[in-house]
Amino acid sequence: NDPQPPQPVRPAAPQDSAFLKACRREPVPHTPVWFMRQAGRSLPEYRKVREGIAMLDSCMRPELVTEITLQPVRRHHVDAAIYFSDIVVPLKAIGVDLDIKPGVGPVVAQPVRTRADLERLRPLEPDDVGYVTEAVRLLVRELGGTPLIGFAGAPFTLASYLVEGGPSRNHERTKAMMYGDPELWAALLDRLAVITGTFLKVQIEAGASAVQLFDSWAGALSEADYRSSVMPASAKVFESVAHYGVPRIHFGVGTGELLGAMGEAGADVVGADWRVPLDEAARRIGPGKPVQGNLDPAVLFAPRDAVEAQARRVLDAARGLEGHIFNLGHGVLPETDPDALTRLVAYVHEQTER
Ligand code: CP3
Repeated sequence: NDPQPPQPVRPAAPQDSAFLKACRREPVPHTPVWFMRQAGRSLPEYRKVREGIAMLDSCMRPELVTEITLQPVRRHHVDAAIYFSDIVVPLKAIGVDLDIKPGVGPVVAQPVRTRADLERLRPLEPDDVGYVTEAVRLLVRELGGTPLIGFAGAPFTLASYLVEGGPSRNHERTKAMMYGDPELWAALLDRLAVITGTFLKVQIEAGASAVQLFDSWAGALSEADYRSSVMPASAKVFESVAHYGVPRIHFGVGTGELLGAMGEAGADVVGADWRVPLDEAARRIGPGKPVQGNLDPAVLFAPRDAVEAQARRVLDAARGLEGHIFNLGHGVLPETDPDALTRLVAYVHEQTER
């Protein structure tokens, strides 16, 4: 293990951070970096504190959430923290019988398939997630000048888990409802938009500096279907938090064909996976919106020189763009060597120091 190169000076306040400056399209001291799933199984210190505690239980313990959220900030010197939770936490909080099965993902006991099932989804009240308010407040204090990103699942991705009853490759039952019962589908997405909006508001009001809406599985849709059957609900979520003025990031996987629409839904920043080069992603998103991404998370399994060469490609494609937040094109894979992530942060900082 070689000695760590010096890291950029920490900002005094989140508003002065490279991350928020990039979101606002202001000049940055260096390209900001954070990683989706930066907290989690790639870190031994995470596996240690999670021992014997179920995933959803850990999300309800503010001290534990705080510790886990801070772990990658301490270790990797990333430019932003992302609140440790899961997209299904607000669904659990309104009483949906679900669990996160290790190695599988969220599993719902009684899938939502009918009008009667839909009626069980009540609105989220801030008091349902008091532990989120508490954890965000603790974190904002501990983080000082490092910004905290709040997040939620987008209506389509949440609907997929609810309708399928668990993770799905083809989203066939979800699409069957979308095409076969458009009214029920629209009502389901609308309810989810309200729940998601409240979940984001709770995090912003407690002090989160930015929010990211994860529509991880939206890439399964054609642009036409996305625009007619999904985008109105995501737009409602963005609109419901617009008045706070915090940057709103929109991300999905395999969304090369949807990047323009995902920006139009009301996002300030759009995330891109690795399938479209960053400059082409920016072109598809259009002017005025910084891009986040887009290194393939599997690249981190290659030797250091190869990782740097691929990171270099991303940085080269970012030249001249209106704003770039370096990230992976999807979450950190659990088997990733954490030292490779630490080195990547240092490399991006060093290469972009202005
Ligand atoms: O560091 C961070 O990015 C914050 C934490 C975070 C988690 N889930 C923690 C988690 C975030 C942002 C999420 C969002 C999430 N959850 C998404 C959207 C992002 C994406 O990856 O596309 C989705 C689709 C989910 C649903 C979900 N939850 C999946 C697919 C899994 C993985 C199942 C597995 O075990 O492989 C989860 C569980 C989960 N959420 C883990 C973590 C750290 C792993 C569980 C564990 O550590 O025991």
